[in-house]
Formats: sequence, C-alpha cells, structure tokens
Amino acid sequence: MEHLINDRVKNIQISGIRTFFNMVSQYEDVLSLTIGQPDFLTPDSVKTAAKQAIDQNKTSYTHNAGILELRQAASQFVRTNYNQQYDPETEVIVTIGASQAIDIAMRTILEEGSEVILPGPVYPGYEPLIRLAGAIPVHVDTTNTGFRLTADLINQHITEKTRCIILPYPSNPTGVTLSKTELEDIATLLHDKDIFVLSDEIYSELVFDGKHESIATIPSMRDKTIVVNGVSKSHSMTGWRIGLLFAPAYISKHMLKVHQYNVSCASSISQIAALEALTTAKDESILMKQEYEKRRNYVYERLVAMGFEVEKPSGAFYLFPSIQKFHKSSFDFALSLVKDAGVALVPGNAFSTLGEGYVRLSYAYSMDTLTEALNRLEHHLNKN
Ligand SMILES: Cc1ncc(COP(=O)(O)O)c(C=O)c1O
Repeated sequence: MEHLINDRVKNIQISGIRTFFNMVSQYEDVLSLTIGQPDFLTPDSVKTAAKQAIDQNKTSYTHNAGILELRQAASQFVRTNYNQQYDPETEVIVTIGASQAIDIAMRTILEEGSEVILPGPVYPGYEPLIRLAGAIPVHVDTTNTGFRLTADLINQHITEKTRCIILPYPSNPTGVTLSKTELEDIATLLHDKDIFVLSDEIYSELVFDGKHESIATIPSMRDKTIVVNGVSKSHSMTGWRIGLLFAPAYISKHMLKVHQYNVSCASSISQIAALEALTTAKDESILMKQEYEKRRNYVYERLVAMGFEVEKPSGAFYLFPSIQKFHKSSFDFALSLVKDAGVALVPGNAFSTLGEGYVRLSYAYSMDTLTEALNRLEHHLNKN
C-alpha cells in the first residue's frame, strides 16, 4: 500500500549528510569530520540542574510556549548579546530543537505554491520542510558572491509568489556570516515588500570576527522577521532538543497553535537544563568559541597550504573548500578519501546541487583528530 503514502512525504529524501555518515561507518579506521555535533560535554551545572529537576518531579507538561523563566532568560540572553527585543510573554516559543522551530515557522507562513528564497549551498534541513508545507524552494547560487545571499541576488529572484527569504547565517556549510551593511541592503530591498525573513541564528554564539549581527534588529525588519535559535550548538546540547523561536506577537500567536497541536511543549527537564545554560552557564559558549577559533585558524591554514581554494569562515564550525580542480564529483572525491586516506568529509552536493564541486569539513572535533585527519589528507594528495 506504499502508493497511498502522501506524495510530498514520498518525494523528500533522507539528508545526504546522514546517508554519507552511515555509509562511512562501514569502513574501519576512518576519521570522520562529517557531523555538526560539538565535541564538548554539556556543562556540568546544566546536567546537575536537569538531575535535580527530575528529583523534584518537575515532570509535567509546561506552558505550551515553554516555562516562563526560560522564555525570560532567552529574551534577556538575546537582548544582551545581540540587541534583539522580544517580549517573553508573547514573542518567545521554546521548541524541540531549531529543527522544529523551522518547521513551525514554515507551516505558519507558507501557502500552497508560495516561494521561499534561500542561498545555495545550504543546510539541507529547510528544503524538505518547505516542500512539506506545499511551497517551493528557490535556491539562489551564491558560489560567486562568497556564499553570501546579497540584496541583488534576492532581487533577481523575487516574484509575486515570494513569501519568505531564509537567511541562515552564520552558515552551515560555509561558515560565512553577513555584515551589518549587507543586512541593511537586504532590509532596504524588502522595505516596501510583504515578505517574511526566517533568520536561522543557531550558530550566533560562534562568530569569530566581530560580533553576531541579526536582521531582526533593523527597525523596519523586526515585524517581518522570525528568528530561530537554540542551545544545541552554543552549549553543546544537541541531544537535549531545545530550540527557540522569536517573532512579533502577531506571528507567534499563530506559530504557537502549530506547536501546541504538534508537541504540546518541549521536554520539561530539557527546558530546565536550557534555563541553566542561558543563565548560570551562559558564558560556557565563550570558552567553546575560543577553542573553535583556534581550530578554524589551524584547519584553514593547513587547507590553504595544501592548495585548496577555501573561504575563511567567520562563524559556525565548518569549512567548505572547493575540489573542482580534482575533476571528480564531490561524492566520488569524498568516497575516495574514505577508502584511500581514511578521512571522511561530506560531499558538497548534500547541501543542494549548488554545493557540487565542494566538500564540507566540520572542525567540531579535537585538535588531535583534526591534525591526524589533515595529515592523512595531505599524504593522500601528495601521493596522487
Ligand atoms: C543551520 C542549522 N539550522 C538548524 C539546525 C538544527 O538544530 P537543532 O539540532 O537545534 O534542531 C542545524 C543543525 O545542524 C543547523 O546546522
């Protein structure tokens, strides 16, 4: 009876990152730099808060939007760090990871046939959710603009069906961020247009050069922007599944309905852990960032020394070098690295067809692992 499965669901695919990761696990002695999973432990105080919450039986449903103290802490965190202003009572929703936040946002604002502009190459989590909402992803080639979705590029792709633009910066897979001026140019373009922006800022705590800038802080954009964030990457809490949605009340009140009927609320214990992360443990992310920055510099310099063409990332924990000069598809290149060098990188085509000709390297791994993997890569290139 498989023909009775919903067509939209049948037509979406399992993420290429996972597929490649699972395939790589069959090979022995492979150093994998494939997953965007911080290698730090969740801070101790966060774990303690969660254990205490269990012992104190804080195990019931919470408010659908999340416990108020957490919404207050989240609102305070983004106000202090990024100058974003959101009312914790009406403009903040605690979700199950950034992933669910994106899903709720898409289902709330998109109609059948709506178009969503997004850069390519891009994190593969958006396209399936856009399609499940009945809408159409419009990937814009950013390979000639240093992976930046510029106002000009957006302008070339806007139609009367455009409902939303996704700004996923700092970017997975490229590590690129947008400057305040670039965001202002986009704001100027959108000034007289009724188009939403979904700003995925899950890597906002990991910005190395300068500080994180959000389009939501530009006055004309606040009312059109939905901000996605969370503690997965900032506090090494991917398995706790806590994301955050910030949006003006007129959008949030509708997103809350989708969230309520979908999951009721995020896990009460994880919410208490996230509260600890955003209050007492709020500076833990700064320590992790310092370590990531060292790794970024190290990996970048080594790749450049090996002759790779690569954009120096200013955020997140990825590099996206070009492999075009090897005249192989990104899949074949990555597979030969696994088989012949014992190193796994993600083929760029996992990040839309516009990622073909690149590979993604995650440096959310220890210095020892990175050093050994880069030695293997260098040896492999010298041999061939
Ligand atoms: C750009 C981007 N957005 C969202 C997510 C999902 O985050 P979460 O684990 O909080 O659902 C990821 C995870 O890798 C990501 O890279």
